[in-house]
Amino acid sequence: ADSMHSKLLAVYEKAEYFYHHLLVNSKAGEEAYNYLLNRGMTKESIETFKIGFSPPQRQALKLYLDNEGLNDPEVLKKSGLFSDRDDDTFVDRFTNRILFPIADARGKTVAFSGRAFLEAEDNHRMAKYMNSPETELFNKRRILFNYDKARASIRRDGEVILFEGFMDVISAWQAGVKNGIASMGTSLTEEQIHVLDKVTDHVVIAYDGDDAGLEATKRATDFINRETHFTIDIASFPENLDPDDFIQSRGKEAFVEFLSHGRDTLMSFLLKYHRKGINLKNESERLKYIEVVLRELARVSSAVERELYLNQLQEEFDLSVDALKEQMHSFIVEQQ
Ligand code: CTP
Ligand code: MN
Ligand code: MN
Ligand code: MN
Ligand code: MN
Repeated sequence: ADSMHSKLLAVYEKAEYFYHHLLVNSKAGEEAYNYLLNRGMTKESIETFKIGFSPPQRQALKLYLDNEGLNDPEVLKKSGLFSDRDDDTFVDRFTNRILFPIADARGKTVAFSGRAFLEAEDNHRMAKYMNSPETELFNKRRILFNYDKARASIRRDGEVILFEGFMDVISAWQAGVKNGIASMGTSLTEEQIHVLDKVTDHVVIAYDGDDAGLEATKRATDFINRETHFTIDIASFPENLDPDDFIQSRGKEAFVEFLSHGRDTLMSFLLKYHRKGINLKNESERLKYIEVVLRELARVSSAVERELYLNQLQEEFDLSVDALKEQMHSFIVEQQ
């Protein structure tokens, strides 16, 4: 099993080299390369992240690996780099996509995610991103994009910035934010949290500023709260922008400024979240809102923070602190 492991790593190393070379140095990769440059990705980032291009030919990688003497069918099958087929012909899984290598904690590439980029007529049938399947090397539940490169900065800065996607991490990197990682989609797993737990106690959630990102942020906060004692801050991006969009439209400086001074504490995020779409003039909606906020407060461990928000509620709704406290304590008891 150990030697299968190293054989798979060797295949990935070759594949990464092949795809990267095609993106940077070939005529075939030119359109993909320009697509990335047009989106603001620098040549330096393309190098650093070893971005690649998988050509349209259906056996380009297969033939390349053959030439390199990597042709053990068992290894190729387990690599996830080829489509699953019953016969023993190997067809490249990734064609016509920009490839983001995904590394394990030691920096070894163990998977790719491929982004469709052509404005081809049948593009609408293609998923925007396609990922390597789960393999011996690639445990989707554990891996965080860019964790290997970000780890030292996460330690140094005392916090990790959690993004949704590849482009967010890379654009942030270009803006000097080197402690960014991505959960690659919207649901964070317990295993990913435990990886982070080893290096930091402070996470800044910087998901997309759309409804999906907002809901994912709420889920992530509940989840992180349940699993750890992390301090959580939230950077809620405006106007449906994701962090990469924000950087492209407003610039690096504005992004860095927003990330450090525009973030909300967990509680103020939750207050905004629960307030959305609620009419506080309506009595029953108002009661519901107060109840849900008290439930959130019951989970806050800092007595000072609880006091602060209890006072705020008391002022806003003209209620007695005693009544609020009593109700909050009943929720604390419920949780135990
Ligand atoms: N994702 C995925 N499969 C999809 C869509 C998304 O795996 N079909 C993952 C990717 O890791 C992606 C992340 O979820 O980076 C966030 O998705 P989304 O916000 O839709 O994409 P962006 O990262 O914004 O990509 P782009 O800017 O290139 O559109
Ligand atoms: Mn800290
Ligand atoms: Mn998104
Ligand atoms: Mn996005
Ligand atoms: Mn984006």
